[in-house]
Formats: sequence, C-alpha cells, structure tokens
Amino acid sequence: MIEGKKGSAVKKSMEILIALGNIYGAKRLIPVKTVQISGVSYDNLGDAGLEFLNMMAKDGRVKVKTTLNCPGMDMEDWENLGIDPEFARKQIMVINAFKKMGVETTCTCTPYFVGNKPDVGDHVSWGESSAVTYANSVLGAKTNKEGGPSTIAAALTGFTPEYGLHLDENRQAHFVAEVKAEIDNPMLFGALGNVVGEIAKGRIPLITGIEKATTEEMKALSASIVTYGGAPLFHLKGITPNKTDTPSEKVMISQDQIDEAVKDMTDTDDVEFIFIGCPHCTLNELEKVSKLLKGKKVKKELWIGVARPIKKMADEKGYSKTIEESGAKFACDTCHVVAPLKGRFHSIATNSAKGIFYGRGKNNFKTFFGTLEDCMKLAVKE
Ligand code: F3S
Repeated sequence: MIEGKKGSAVKKSMEILIALGNIYGAKRLIPVKTVQISGVSYDNLGDAGLEFLNMMAKDGRVKVKTTLNCPGMDMEDWENLGIDPEFARKQIMVINAFKKMGVETTCTCTPYFVGNKPDVGDHVSWGESSAVTYANSVLGAKTNKEGGPSTIAAALTGFTPEYGLHLDENRQAHFVAEVKAEIDNPMLFGALGNVVGEIAKGRIPLITGIEKATTEEMKALSASIVTYGGAPLFHLKGITPNKTDTPSEKVMISQDQIDEAVKDMTDTDDVEFIFIGCPHCTLNELEKVSKLLKGKKVKKELWIGVARPIKKMADEKGYSKTIEESGAKFACDTCHVVAPLKGRFHSIATNSAKGIFYGRGKNNFKTFFGTLEDCMKLAVKE
C-alpha cells in the first residue's frame, strides 16, 4: 500500500496512518470492522477540505462498512432549513466525493442506530466524539477519537494504528465517580457528564451509584462527558460491558454539583431557536416529541435532528406528520452545530449539554438548558 501499488489514495492513506502510529508509538496496524467519518460539514471543510476529498475519491474505495457524521444541512430538504444555495452546492459536492469512495451516505452522529453497530471487542475507527464515546463505553467496541483524515485513511485501507483505546491496558478506569444525586432523565445524564468530564480532565471514570440508564440517557452521557473534558470512554458500574479494576481515587458527585451544572448551562429562557436531537433522536424521542406537540403550533424555529432512516420509521408510525403539522422542522442528517447558523439566531434551547457547549462556543448563542418537555413548552409559548 505504501509503495503505491494499490493507488494514490491508498498510498496517501497509509502515509497518514503510519505518521499517526509513529506519533503515538503504535507497534502495528490492526484491521478495523467499521469506520465513521467525521468532519463532513462544508462549514468545517471549506474548499481545501473538498479538494482533499476529490483527490482521495479519484481512486480510493472503502474496504469496510463506512458511514458519515453530520453534514451542514439536511441533504434532501435543505431549503426548508433556510440553507444558502451556494453552501448547499458545495455540501452536495462533499457528499458526492464520499459516495464515489463507496461510503454509505447515511449521515448521523448515531451510526449505531442505523446499521453501523460494532460488537463488544470490535476494533473500529470512528470520528465523532459522542459516537466514539458511545462505541467505547456502551457497545464495548474499541476506537480512539479519530480526525477526519485518519477516518478516511482507515476506510480506504481497512486499518488503523494500534495505540490508545485499542489497547486493553489503556481502558482501565482512573478514578471512581460516586453519584449521590437523582439522575433520571437524558438532560440530567448530560449534566452528570458535564460534572464528571470536568473532573476527569482526559481520564477515564468508573461511575457508580446509577442503577439504570436508558439508551437516550447513555447517548446524552456519552456526548456530554467527552465534550466537557473526559476521555472518550467511561464505565458505568453494573451497566456498561467493559471490565475495569476499581481505582483507589474516589470523588463524590453531589446533588448540588448537578444542580449547579444545570443552572450554569442556562443564560436565558427567551430563545429564538430550539434544537432537539444532539446526538440525533431515537424513535422513542420522536414519539415523545410528537405527543408533546400534538394539536399545538410552534411559535419559534424548532429543529429535530435525526438520522434519515429513523425519520422514515417515524413517518410510518405517524409521528412525523404530527410533528410537521405543529410547524416544527426535521433536520435530517444535520444539527445546530455543523449547520452554518452563526449570526442567524442569537439564542437556543436544547436538552443536550453538548449542544449547549457548542451552541455557546461555535455560534455565540445564549442558551437555555432544560428537559425535552421544557424545550417543547418554550417552542409553543407565545
Ligand atoms: Fe450530533 Fe451535532 Fe450533537 S453532530 S452530537 S447533533 S453537535
């Protein structure tokens, strides 16, 4: 591969992987089962990124199942989201380059709901941080948090350098986070991720004191903990599948800390824009949204972020019709962070702690952090 016998894209890919392996002291390359490519939005890529993709697409073809993270718009219904046609033209070129490489152009930060779901112990190369954390922690697969080029390189070769979280010795917990607080909805799991992530500072926690967690709660925790500073791997005692020794360092997570985190994530309840689905919604969440919006009209711009195959299931169940009749909009494929929204809105409400972080950091939004129910109440308020 490195000699160019398999084409120039594979040669370039191997150069990227070897350079990465050398930096991190990897002893060898290992095969990966699946890839999730991040850095898909034209908003992040720009023309230089698009040029790189076109170069790789000339003779590069994926060797393993590969899906995409979110682009900067709904790939079918971008006009409904008010996306600039010139941006749309470039974003379509980005996706077409991936298509040419043989990538499945299902675009989502929840690939594990739509067919890219590794098993316990599988080595994968994934890019999007919440998905990486979910894969490592909840599914028990093994991946580092890869960048856009290294995920493309893994897709075109089928390999990744073996270092970091691919090695079992690096997957042990560093400290215990003992939760002494009521954590019983996705928003509060997001707040827990905020608190534990800030304490972790790149280390891996063994979280105790949580008896059960739904898929939506695990998704929220995975997104939040890594956003606020944790490693892209956590252990939840009695729930997650990875084995770890119990470290001696222990910190308590109190109700006050959780309440404080919730409070800190809100600046205002006077918002222009509401986003639900960070990470992308499950079918359960769409059912809830449809129940909360049934017979009501939204008074603010409300986007529901979701993977297109999940939206199709919601169409069949009738949830989509109820949601759209309220005036809410589906944002399939995309989200409020990767879409080009800077300056278009000034404030956002969301039930996602990760969504708050990037809403503030990337788009300078004033924020409201609440439960799904709180956000829907704001959406229909005059
Ligand atoms: Fe997904 Fe966008 Fe949130 S990519 S995790 S919805 S910031």
